[in-house]
Amino acid sequence: MVNKITVVGAGNVGATAAQRLAEKELARLVVLVDIQEGIPQGKGLDQWESAPIEGFDTRVIGTNTYDETANSEIVVITAGIARKPGMSRDDLLNTNAGIVKQVSENVRDTSPDSIIIVVSNPLDVMSYVAKQVTGFPRERVLGMAGVLDTARYRSFIAEALDVSVRDIQAMVLGGHGDTMVPLISYTSVSGIPVTQLMSPEKLQAIVDRTRNGGAEIVKYLKTGSAYYAPSSAAVQMCEAIVHDQKRILPCAAWLEGEYGMSGLFLGVPCKLGRAGLEQIIEVELTPAEHESLSKSAEAVREPMSAVRL
Ligand SMILES: NC(=O)c1ccc[n+]([C@@H]2O[C@H](COP(=O)([O-])OP(=O)(O)OC[C@H]3O[C@@H](n4cnc5c(N)ncnc54)[C@H](O)[C@@H]3O)[C@@H](O)[C@H]2O)c1
Repeated sequence: MVNKITVVGAGNVGATAAQRLAEKELARLVVLVDIQEGIPQGKGLDQWESAPIEGFDTRVIGTNTYDETANSEIVVITAGIARKPGMSRDDLLNTNAGIVKQVSENVRDTSPDSIIIVVSNPLDVMSYVAKQVTGFPRERVLGMAGVLDTARYRSFIAEALDVSVRDIQAMVLGGHGDTMVPLISYTSVSGIPVTQLMSPEKLQAIVDRTRNGGAEIVKYLKTGSAYYAPSSAAVQMCEAIVHDQKRILPCAAWLEGEYGMSGLFLGVPCKLGRAGLEQIIEVELTPAEHESLSKSAEAVREPMSAVRL
């Protein structure tokens, strides 16, 4: 366990992530920060009061300032406004950029050695904002998207084949949006290529559903967006870092020539350990997959150039 993990934004994703971090005892202290007075304090106290029942010793506290977050090893940024029905992730762009900028300045000043995991949308661009504002090296700024998108894809495949989710290995790369790239060629069921178990039509329907996974939940919830699976995904990244697991997880990482691209955050296979991003793994892609990844990169670059810092 590490000493302190801060979660900025005590809304649906942030509060659920804090609870999961505490229940897994990934830090001695989890600090929830939000601009709304009373909300992080109330949620933090409520979670801490569940500790005797759930049996965890991680303290959870809430605050409206950054004093108590000082020297966090990991900071998860979920602050922002969530998507409303009919709203694209990019509609959120400049509102959330302003919020993530302000949060990142505080994180830079109070936890200069932290590893940042960005969750706020539009994900790839907000990760860029956090990196630019903090000046942290790429090893210490990661975006959460691929773990969630891959979990959705894996859950749909497990459901369709009526097999355990544990046996589905897969990877979804690219930007966190409609252009994401589920890699069919790297999807297997206990090592069996998924194409041997499912028709191309059925697989394509699952790929399409994965691309619209976020919107599917928004349509049901109407007043908010997904948070159970997103918080699980962010916490899995924290777990890989805290326990130095060297897990290979698809994360948004700052590219410096990998996959023939530079100067943007894009979902790629990453090795996560105690140092944060320890390696970007370049896998062979089919020409079609490569083209999809390039298109996805274009969809990230456009809002990136529109963001005001
Ligand atoms: N990357 C992903 O895959 C993924 C998945 C789900 C949600 N998201 C994004 O995560 C973000 C949070 O989603 P949510 O459902 O928790 O939203 P939410 O509205 O429930 O919570 C957001 C919280 O951020 C707080 N906040 C706003 N400005 C702040 C600031 N300057 N400092 C601290 N806190 C501030 C709000 O008060 C609110 O409590 C959204 O941008 C959403 O789109 C991303």
